[in-house]
Amino acid sequence: MSTAKSTCVVGVQWGDEGKGKIVDILSQKADVVVRFQGGGNAGHTVVVKGEKFVLHLLPSGILHKSTCVVANGVVVDLIQLLDEMAELEKRGVKFGKNFLLSDRAHVVMPYHKFLDKHFEAGKGKIGTTQRGIGPCYADKAARKGVRVADLYNEAVLKDRVFAITDEKNKILAALYGAPPLDPQRIVDEYRGYAAKLKPFVGDAVDFVNTAIDKGKRVLFEGAQGSLLDIDFGTYPFVTSSNSDACGISAGTGVPPKKIGPILGVAKAYCTRVGEGPFPTELKDGLGEKLREVGGEYGATTGRPRRCGWFDGVTSLHAVQINGIESVAITKLDVLSGLDEIRFATHYKIDGKKVEVMPSETDVLARAEPVYKSFKGWTEDLSKIRRYQDLPKAAKIYLNFVERYLKVKVSMISVGKDREKTILR
Ligand code: GDP
Ligand code: IMO
Ligand code: MG
Repeated sequence: MSTAKSTCVVGVQWGDEGKGKIVDILSQKADVVVRFQGGGNAGHTVVVKGEKFVLHLLPSGILHKSTCVVANGVVVDLIQLLDEMAELEKRGVKFGKNFLLSDRAHVVMPYHKFLDKHFEAGKGKIGTTQRGIGPCYADKAARKGVRVADLYNEAVLKDRVFAITDEKNKILAALYGAPPLDPQRIVDEYRGYAAKLKPFVGDAVDFVNTAIDKGKRVLFEGAQGSLLDIDFGTYPFVTSSNSDACGISAGTGVPPKKIGPILGVAKAYCTRVGEGPFPTELKDGLGEKLREVGGEYGATTGRPRRCGWFDGVTSLHAVQINGIESVAITKLDVLSGLDEIRFATHYKIDGKKVEVMPSETDVLARAEPVYKSFKGWTEDLSKIRRYQDLPKAAKIYLNFVERYLKVKVSMISVGKDREKTILR
């Protein structure tokens, strides 16, 4: 057995760290790029020579020669996938042997999307992307899911969809007074989508494992961020999958010993979309300034992102659970022009110093961040390509991030475009 390993890119914060841009860069040297969790809730932006691509279900490697895999851990909205493929085809991307959809992946069904919307309209809203992600993963765990392979077996598909739709219709009627869904229409519609996707469906477990064993360069692309992880994030204000390196094995069938090294992606500050605690959030004009300068509006829903300072405590938690060895710091350019830059080194909670991220979300919500202050810089960073050319104040800040997280800062992103990157 080969001892070859794969590279992984994961978000250190609450998503939108710039994973898409980093994966796009690393994909230039990857043979295979794999999405292992999440679904159409992701929005990964890649900018190539000023042209913007936003990827939701397809790995950001699709703009390169790499083979792109949507693995079993992803929940797939077939309509969204076909739309995304059609949009990319219009822009010159060809689909053939460069795309593999796992036959074990679960399908986001119409009732998942309805239920996501209805759940969110009630009390205790999470601020989801309303893409049906939570209800689809819930059905997967409850063994009431439809897998891609089921779409090609008429009897199995009919049996499952009729039984599940019957149950969902009762829930939709009783709780929300919603009209029933017609299971036969769903079956017919989804068989149509399945027919279009047939050439791309296959056994991704064997494909990805064999690629690694043969020494091919395999890159795993995380969606969301570690703090949105269902087990290790700010539960219940999380997504419904393991959105960090812990999710790779279960989401692909690649054993842990073949996984790593792990590259974390973190913004030079921090953002969050949706509800939930965010200790370093800036609710003032400075937060608005970061949002405007950083263009912090959701790539999937267009919602304004909440903005704040870099949070060392939650980031260290992400470094620990992922086993991150190096980080890419993105959007350093956005901090240019600030007199002061802050970094939360620990919290005060109920008068006590806290250095480890609390598990209880209500405790985290009470955390008062304690900051280390850094001098800002005024220079425009977007044309800088060498670390040594960065302003001294920016290097002092990055050196601190490196020492604090005990990881190497191996990439620094200073603009949206692929080219606007410093490699160390
Ligand atoms: P992802 O979900 O982690 O892939 O991140 P998103 O694409 O949702 O959000 C990151 C946003 O920041 C996108 O609009 C990117 O084009 C943009 N971006 C990425 N890196 C940089 C950078 O270094 N500087 C600036 N100004 N924008 C960046
Ligand atoms: P990328 O891959 C930022 C957030 C939602 C909500 C919570 C649950 O672009 O980083 P869900 O629809 O998953 O049930 O919503 O998770 N969320 C994201 N936030 N970036 C994402 O993806 C996200 N995907 C989900 O805003 O708070
Ligand atoms: Mg995003």
